[in-house]
Amino acid sequence: MPRIGFLLQSVLHSASVQSKEINHLFATFTIAAVLLLLSVSVFIVYICIRFREKPGNPLPKQISKNNRIELLMFLFPTLTIGIFLFLTIRTIHHVQQPAKGQPDVIITGHQWWWEVYYPATGVRAANEIHLPVNKNLMLEFHSADVVHDWWVPEFGNKMDVVPGRNNYIWVNILKAGDYIGACSEFCGAEHAWMRIKVFAETDSAFQSWQEANKKIANMPGDELAMRGMLLFQSASCGSCHRISGTFSNAFIGPDLSHVFSRSTLLSGMMPMNEENLQSWISDPQAVKPDAKMPNFIFSKDSVAAIVHYLTQLK
Ligand code: CUA
Repeated sequence: MPRIGFLLQSVLHSASVQSKEINHLFATFTIAAVLLLLSVSVFIVYICIRFREKPGNPLPKQISKNNRIELLMFLFPTLTIGIFLFLTIRTIHHVQQPAKGQPDVIITGHQWWWEVYYPATGVRAANEIHLPVNKNLMLEFHSADVVHDWWVPEFGNKMDVVPGRNNYIWVNILKAGDYIGACSEFCGAEHAWMRIKVFAETDSAFQSWQEANKKIANMPGDELAMRGMLLFQSASCGSCHRISGTFSNAFIGPDLSHVFSRSTLLSGMMPMNEENLQSWISDPQAVKPDAKMPNFIFSKDSVAAIVHYLTQLK
């Protein structure tokens, strides 16, 4: 079973305005902390050597208080922590703006996949999230079941996805490209296969993706695909999945209206192709144990027909 390799994800590689700011704060803290550690260490070593007990030395002068040193010992840490606090609050203020107006994307965490909905256009997708670059985007998070956690390291902050609560993050992506993330809160058996893929695109590429996905799903193009569609409907696949323009209109599983235009299957588990669709539909539990998709015990021919139909949903 071909699987997608582990792609490099690093928080230190900033790809958004927000993560740049967080990393800038991180660098400032690290430099300040290293300088403090070094100066304290050097000072301690100096004192140990300079004032160590030597043979014949009398007892040193006993000092009970020194107002000037005590004031310094109070002011210096207070000032340092004050500066850190100010910088932190300023970064939080920039990164976590209040949620106002309509979100650009609503993302719902499910066991074990991500539902994606663009309220402005009504476009629906799953696991692969297309976003325009150089735009301050508001992402709204819902959960359909348990606590998940959205994290694309290169975008900076992560966000818990909590049932019964709307959470938000802002992201302004700096460069077009593909970004990989993952659910980062243990959410059950297939938590590890709850990957996120973001396609950051120029505005025109994003618009044309939206246009293509706004269209209702293709009707079957040949007899085999027609058989596949009828099987899909009679086997009640439509009680969990939606295919726009058909009777299938449920949101328990991923929207399949344009399923074959995606590059991956099962939340980043494997590339989208006929062979993988075939093994998934033939025995879902063997491919992704505990996933909510039951085994319908289709015949080989039926699976072939359904897969053929799905490959036309681009
Ligand atoms: Cu969803 Cu871990």
